[in-house]
Amino acid sequence: MHNIKIEQTSQPKEKPAPDQLGFGHYFSDHMFVLDYTEGIGWHDPRIIPYQPISLDPSAMIFHYGQSVFEGLKAYITVDGEALLFRPDANFKRLNRSNERLCIPAIDEQLALEALKQLVAVDREWIPTAPGTSLYIRPFIIATEENLGVHPSKKYQFIIIMSPSGSYYKEGINPVKIMVEQQFVRAVKGGTGEAKTGGNYASALKGQEIADREGYSQTLWLDGKENRYVEEVGSMNIFFKIAGTVVTPELNGSILPGITRDSMIQVLKSKGIPVEERRISIDEVVEAYHNGTLEEVFGTGTAAVISPVGELKYLDEKMSINKGEIGEVSQMLYDTLTGIQYGKIEDSFDWTIRL
Ligand code: COI
Repeated sequence: MHNIKIEQTSQPKEKPAPDQLGFGHYFSDHMFVLDYTEGIGWHDPRIIPYQPISLDPSAMIFHYGQSVFEGLKAYITVDGEALLFRPDANFKRLNRSNERLCIPAIDEQLALEALKQLVAVDREWIPTAPGTSLYIRPFIIATEENLGVHPSKKYQFIIIMSPSGSYYKEGINPVKIMVEQQFVRAVKGGTGEAKTGGNYASALKGQEIADREGYSQTLWLDGKENRYVEEVGSMNIFFKIAGTVVTPELNGSILPGITRDSMIQVLKSKGIPVEERRISIDEVVEAYHNGTLEEVFGTGTAAVISPVGELKYLDEKMSINKGEIGEVSQMLYDTLTGIQYGKIEDSFDWTIRL
């Protein structure tokens, strides 16, 4: 047991109506904070009222971007219980990102306990309308006051929570995605597989172009040959080609998605062939032309399962499955959300009830 101090807010906020939610606009009443100081380690775990943080303008996060984050969700099940989905996997990944960004490892047990206590304190903030959940954002920032380029000697680990609906305005309806040609998201040996803000900042330019052309997001190709499919800005990507589901293998520049891993396990459990391997955009285009590109979908904590109804590459607009949700995408969505909302048995042991 860790000694986590709890200070309850004296001014609880009004909760938004379910139809107002969207993604990431509202925040619950409390947050978790843990400090790190070189020579002492991580210290002072506390749950406090949600509030702005005060940092010196020289805090290193503002200058060199040393930070990592995670994304996971809490749900209210059909039986009215609060449940977390694979939080242990998120804290493991956070430590892998920490290692890449030279941030000291956190105690995963402490983080899990802190999260459970935080969700329990703000349980009323978990929305209950269909398709809604409490999106949880753990993150770490470098707080040392110094302009030298070196790993910070001070950090803050913070968890905030946001009652949310679907990430895309389309919900579970298919989205349109375009392949980015001019810019790259990540390169081998870079920070692509870490969950760090810089990866998302560097992807904004592609996102801006996609937005302008009426697409929801960018599909990124590899940074070296501009040929192999990597991931979408906020999701991993899957293709169903002639009955086999293919997703790019984790190669060091792709984010190791927890939803991605969950979906691979579900596919295997259902006996659907699934391959993690290099897949070129040419193979996808060829499958489209010969009629074997049956489904395309993205996966992510925020996005859940998002079918892709149109994929644009160069001047070609490929309509996937007549712009409708495919059978496998629907099955994966039903299975994942069924487990998350306690409608079907969690035979994978992924959920933690509070
Ligand atoms: C998530 O799915 O949790 C993510 O981190 C994607 C995000 C950048 C919205």
